[in-house]
Amino acid sequence: MATRAGTIEGRPDTDDPVKVTCEVLARRREGAYWLLSLAAPAIADRARPGQFVNLAVAAPDTLLRRPFSIARVSKQGMAAGTVDVVFAAHGPGTSWLTGVDVHDVVDVVGPLGTPFPLPQRQVACLLIGGGYGVAPLFYLADELTRRGLRVDMIVGAATQDRILNAIEAKRLTASVTFTTEDGSYGEHGRVTDVFDEVVERCGSGVVYACGPNPMLRAVSERCRERRIPVQVAVEEHMACGIGVCFTCVLPIRRKDGQVQMKRACIDGPVFNGARIAWEDTRYEIGPPLVVEDEVDEQPEPSRPTDADVWGES
Ligand SMILES: Cc1cc2nc3c(=O)[nH]c(=O)nc-3n(C[C@H](O)[C@H](O)[C@H](O)COP(=O)(O)OP(=O)(O)OC[C@H]3O[C@@H](n4cnc5c(N)ncnc54)[C@H](O)[C@@H]3O)c2cc1C
Ligand code: FES
Repeated sequence: MATRAGTIEGRPDTDDPVKVTCEVLARRREGAYWLLSLAAPAIADRARPGQFVNLAVAAPDTLLRRPFSIARVSKQGMAAGTVDVVFAAHGPGTSWLTGVDVHDVVDVVGPLGTPFPLPQRQVACLLIGGGYGVAPLFYLADELTRRGLRVDMIVGAATQDRILNAIEAKRLTASVTFTTEDGSYGEHGRVTDVFDEVVERCGSGVVYACGPNPMLRAVSERCRERRIPVQVAVEEHMACGIGVCFTCVLPIRRKDGQVQMKRACIDGPVFNGARIAWEDTRYEIGPPLVVEDEVDEQPEPSRPTDADVWGES
């Protein structure tokens, strides 16, 4: 395995990101997506669910690295030291990555950003993923179930071929509900159309979400209405990925109500969804795909608060 590691300047701590040149161990199609498995033990050792890696791409006229969520790491066994990413090919960087072959080397920086905070008490966790946003939730589901927590999932996509690895979603969870916008797989509609039913059925006490930002806004608002603590991994356009350029800022509401711009690459990508001032962003929730039947208002059951679950003061 060809692997070279060096820590990022001025950050000697063992949790800090490293820059590695790593061998591609596998590359395969996963429905509409591509999976790359990289030999990167220094990143695998440090990584936690929710963090991302920045890959250098050699496509013409591309200077910037491309950020991808860490979909899985293996710390033990035959595949120890591997880091997987899943991506959709659409622009020059991701199209170039589809041409990377097994045994090629790729320059990677990671792990970057903040991980998902894990609940500090026993609580049923609902993981909601849209498109390739499901990838880091598999890694999170693994971590939560190893801690003895119940994990349920809602997996949404535009079409059936954009549902990422349905078998893995079923394997990792107590229950999984699929939605597609064209109705080609699972329930017809969006993840928010099944949200209430799943929360009730599974007794979900916390929500984690990853996917397109309009979906994260919709999920955060549903969680706020039901007073369920929510953590979201945002996908903000990034340039440097290490906190220097301020390309990736998002408005975050502090406890005193003041809104502060935070950098998604180092203060995130994981944020408390209830703290994002979504109304000050460009992310709009689209019109509903499914018109919901009117339901009688039921009194809300008492639920754990942010302070209970994440230990936030
Ligand atoms: C924290 C994070 C995690 C991500 N995880 C994944 C993943 O697991 N799988 C996946 O397929 N994609 C993921 N993305 C999006 C991915 O980074 C973009 O699809 C990719 O950078 C596009 O590069 P491109 O050259 O193909 O396209 P282009 O659109 O030509 O990219 C041009 C520039 O815009 C930036 N850019 C474009 N789209 C995005 C975007 N959606 N988010 C951030 N920057 C963007 C690129 O980095 C590049 O600098 C993630 C983005 C972030 C911020
Ligand atoms: S991408 Fe440069 S500061 Fe976040």
